[in-house]
Amino acid sequence: MKLSRLAFTAILFSTLTHGQDPAEMSARAKARRLYLSLTGVSPSKGELDTLEAKLAAGNKREAALDVIDQRSNIRNGGAFYNVTVKDMVTPWTNKDGSTLAPLNDMSATIIGWVRDNKQFNKILYTDTVYKASGVTFKGELKYFPRASYPSSVPNAQQLCDRDLSAADRAIQNNYWIIYNNPLNPNDLNDKKCRVTKFSKTDLDNYYNINALYLPHLDLVIETNLIDATNNHYESISSQGLDLGDTKLLNHTSQEVKIHAYPIAISGILSTRAYGAAYVIAGTNRAPVAFAMKNFLCKEMEELNDTTIPDYRVRRDIDRSPGGTSSTYKNRCVGCHAGMDGLAGAYAYYDFVNDKLIYKPGVVSSKMNHNVVFNEGFVTQSDQWTNLWVEGQNAKLGWSSSTVGEGVRSFGMMLSETEAFHSCMAKQVYEKVCFRKVKSTWDQTRVAQLTQAYKNDNFNMKNLFINASLTCLED
Ligand code: HEC
Repeated sequence: MKLSRLAFTAILFSTLTHGQDPAEMSARAKARRLYLSLTGVSPSKGELDTLEAKLAAGNKREAALDVIDQRSNIRNGGAFYNVTVKDMVTPWTNKDGSTLAPLNDMSATIIGWVRDNKQFNKILYTDTVYKASGVTFKGELKYFPRASYPSSVPNAQQLCDRDLSAADRAIQNNYWIIYNNPLNPNDLNDKKCRVTKFSKTDLDNYYNINALYLPHLDLVIETNLIDATNNHYESISSQGLDLGDTKLLNHTSQEVKIHAYPIAISGILSTRAYGAAYVIAGTNRAPVAFAMKNFLCKEMEELNDTTIPDYRVRRDIDRSPGGTSSTYKNRCVGCHAGMDGLAGAYAYYDFVNDKLIYKPGVVSSKMNHNVVFNEGFVTQSDQWTNLWVEGQNAKLGWSSSTVGEGVRSFGMMLSETEAFHSCMAKQVYEKVCFRKVKSTWDQTRVAQLTQAYKNDNFNMKNLFINASLTCLED
């Protein structure tokens, strides 16, 4: 008796929350679900009240944006960026496809692009990297004991008179900091004054390692350098900072920060994290294979096509593995004919001493080593050819450009494929709807989301919103 009543309650509950007829799900249940779908966490009662009212009034997009960008008194620490977007893209930054890897320049850049409504189809080739905005201790920053104004800063006293409250000023023994506005670094007159919680010992230590100070949070990131270490991003993660905070992560150029040569820059494909995951060791095929997997949603096994001519297959691939050429023809060639043709794009890159390096005009030795078959292809430049425009992989929807030099033209070619856009829609749908795309119903919805995303200038934030609203109708 008890059991069947429980079962009955369960059925009733599931009809209320997952029923077929959307009208049956209350605005409150939808509000809860929307919040969970975008953040992975549950709303507070107050947040639920706000969202319920918006949904009841038909303002669905507004409700979603409130959750995403913490408007209308919603305070979730940036869970949309810190949890949902980060968990979706972190697997793109390592070979295991793990969500557990730390924040890095690639994931931070993607998060920034989503937050700032950038045209996402350009992320594979634009010069961009997101990092924390701050002031280095040896840069435009001075710390000093309360009211002992440094003579090296003109108008120090006026600045502090302007910026500090009476309460700030009253605190004894505190250090004060005058710093240049990190969001306006080129205007040295744009200075501000604030009280810091750090002691003199802390501040001296930060000065010695030239740490990065975040004035709006009175926090420190241990390094401002991002080319040969991931510590900058790990420090952001370990302090649990809100990645949706527009004063924290900001766009900058990869030039100097990561690369000495502008020609080496190609969006997230030339970030340090991309190099650390895929250019390190190996033969520079992984950056292509994993671009296919993560950006076009195609595993190498699916791309395997043995009808493609093998003139680009390199010398390290055995033409008669295990003593039989049929294995080569029926197996190896399926991936290597196409992949080796594309991997020329990365010929001038290597990952050495924790850094993604690029030597203009110099083919990395790993491209041509291990000569097993002397007549195989020898890489002599960063020219690449896309042989997958023919055969089964033509269906990826390539644009006209099928040859190029270097990574940027390779990234542009990927950006113009139909597969890139539908792959983004599929991954977003799976993330916010908490299920894999399997049924034709799912596929139809992903196709609709893809079309809307394309019509909307590739706005990834809107793609997340549209996908989460679609799932509300389940
Ligand atoms: C399903 C696709 C696929 C097939 C089939 C395939 N390979 Fe590969 N191969 C790859 C990928 C991807 C890499 C790059 C791996 C990496 O660096 O992580 C690779 C790398 C290699 C390398 C370089 C190893 C290195 O250290 O980077 C050799 C040698 C090689 N393959 C030989 C073969 C031979 C021989 C066959 C046939 C028996 C074969 N492959 C079949 C995808 C494939």
